[in-house]
Amino acid sequence: MNRIFSGMQPTRQLHLGNYLGALRNWVALQDRYECIFCVVDLHALTQNQEPEVLRNNIREVAAAYMAAGIDPERNILFNQSYVPQHSELSWILSCHTPIGWLNRMTQFKEKAGKQREMANLGLYAYPVLMAADILLYKATHVPVGEDQKQHLELARDIAGAFNRHYGVDLFPLPEPQILGEATRVMSLRDGTKKMSKSDESEYSRINMTDDADTIAQKIRKAKTDPEPLPGTVEDLEKRPEADNLVTIYAALSGESRAATVERFAGARFSDFKSSLVDVAVETLAPITARMNALMADKGEIDRLLRAGGERAAAMAETHLAEVKDVIGLLRPGAGS
Ligand code: TYM
Repeated sequence: MNRIFSGMQPTRQLHLGNYLGALRNWVALQDRYECIFCVVDLHALTQNQEPEVLRNNIREVAAAYMAAGIDPERNILFNQSYVPQHSELSWILSCHTPIGWLNRMTQFKEKAGKQREMANLGLYAYPVLMAADILLYKATHVPVGEDQKQHLELARDIAGAFNRHYGVDLFPLPEPQILGEATRVMSLRDGTKKMSKSDESEYSRINMTDDADTIAQKIRKAKTDPEPLPGTVEDLEKRPEADNLVTIYAALSGESRAATVERFAGARFSDFKSSLVDVAVETLAPITARMNALMADKGEIDRLLRAGGERAAAMAETHLAEVKDVIGLLRPGAGS
């Protein structure tokens, strides 16, 4: 049985990195796997949130999933906080996770920065909640961008340690699926930094809600170097900004980086950028239009999330009961 679980945080708007690194792969995978796609709203609480903005972002991420092509009938699409078993399993797993494992998490170190003592406990425990998300559904595969690799390794370690401790084969060890050409999309302002929602500069990222003019403007302003485009992937890799733009082009047009490099070998950046604008707008404009249409009927999004949440909760309840039985938590009246 192959089952996928993956999710995105409803913090600010989704960007091209989220789309190319994850969402687009999900759309392709839904034909071959039983899939559960989650809006991980509890994870978003690790950052300061305005309640009204958060509520809107949760709906917007759900709309983005559907606009990109995720079918809410064929897959389970829901928001994390609708299913309380995520928090419950997270607690149980946190009691089975050595602090030393969490101390190695690079994302915590980056996000907490110098204010480590002031960082909230949730930010520190974040990867355990992520492991709980996955293990609650006994997911076997997790399609994510490269930045989530370490968290996925931790989820595997937690699952393996739990199984060994109790001598059971309860949790499958989830496999990361880091797919496609653009597993790590970089900032348009700095080819050595990841494209991220938290970057101060709007020009560092293309949002899934940007209109054609904004996309064109951001790509035209994207940092480059003075040389024309290289002729080999090897030369490309020495030039972070060029590499990033070529990678984005390749991913958007569904070809390999090598094919893109060959096609634009020796081209000036201004010409290459025009082609990049075309393919970016062509890909994103229909998705943005569908997102806007979906967001016009918030009641319908809520209805779909609730229906998905009911289906997720049914599975979560069964699996959490198994966990409780294994570890010896009494479920009064349940007969064990
Ligand atoms: P989040 O919300 O930061 O990102 C959502 C997905 O987008 C990918 N991604 C990128 N891919 C390529 N280039 C980039 N610049 C880029 N930025 C983001 C991420 O790798 C991710 O796949 N912890 C997760 C959310 C989560 C989760 C889970 C994922 C919570 N529980 C369980 C999988 C399974 C996160 O913060 O993703």
